[in-house]
Amino acid sequence: MQASEMSLRLHGNDVYEGFDPSPYPDDIQGWNSEHPLLLEVIRVKQPSLIIEVGVWKGASAIFMAEQLRMAKLSSVVIGVDTFLGSVTHLNRQESKASLLCRHGWPHLYYQFMANVVRRDLQHYICPFAQTSETAFQYFSQLNLRPDVVHIDAAHDYESVSRDITNFFMLLAPGGALVGDDFSAEWPEVIWAATEFAKRKRLSLQQLHGKFLIQKGHD
Ligand SMILES: C[S@@+](CC[C@H](N)C(=O)[O-])C[C@H]1O[C@@H](n2cnc3c(N)ncnc32)[C@H](O)[C@@H]1O
Repeated sequence: MQASEMSLRLHGNDVYEGFDPSPYPDDIQGWNSEHPLLLEVIRVKQPSLIIEVGVWKGASAIFMAEQLRMAKLSSVVIGVDTFLGSVTHLNRQESKASLLCRHGWPHLYYQFMANVVRRDLQHYICPFAQTSETAFQYFSQLNLRPDVVHIDAAHDYESVSRDITNFFMLLAPGGALVGDDFSAEWPEVIWAATEFAKRKRLSLQQLHGKFLIQKGHD
C-alpha cells in the first residue's frame, strides 16, 4: 500500500496534495533516530505497515521510510503526533523555538511535511496529527494491524505505559514493538516498559537506549 491510499483511508484525501515545502528550510533534528534496532526489525519483519507514535520533525520516520524504499517494499509508515511537542520541548528554549509557534499555535507539522517531501518520501509516510490515545481508538475501529510499532511520544510513566499497552494491542501477530529512551535519563520509560513486559510475561531486549518487545504468533 502507498501512503496516498492510507491517507485516503485516514483523512479522506491525500494530505500532501498542494503542499508547498518552500517556506520551511530543511531541518531534520532527531534523537537516536537512525538506530540499529529499527534497521533490524525492518530487515526481519519486512513490514507492510509501521506505526510511529512520536514523530517530531520526522527523523526516525524518514529513516524507516528510507529503509523501506531501499528494500523496495510497498509499505507505509503512519506518523502519529500532536505536533505540539512534549513537556520536555517546552522546557528547552531550542526545542521550543522548533515548534514554530505563530500567535501561540505550533506549526511543527509543516516542518515535518516539508522534510518528508524534500526527500520524496511522501509515498511512504502518512502523518496523523492526533494524540496517541485518539489515534489508537481510530486505528482500532479501522482494524489497522501494524507489523512494527515505534513508541517515542511523551516520556512520563502514565503516557509510556498507555502507549505501549494500546499499540501492542494493535500489533499484528509476530510483530515487533520498539521503544525509545530506555536509558537512565528516562527512568519512567524503563519503569513502564519493564513493568509491561513483566505483566505480559514477554521478554524485553534492550540495545543502545532502545527496547524491543515482540508479539507471539498465537
Ligand atoms: C521525542 S519526540 C519524537 C522524536 C522522533 N521519534 C525522532 O526520533 O525524530 C516526541 C514527540 O511526541 C509528541 N507527543 C507527545 N505526547 C504525545 C501524545 N500524547 N500524542 C501524540 N504525540 C505526542 C510530541 O509532539 C513530539 O513531537
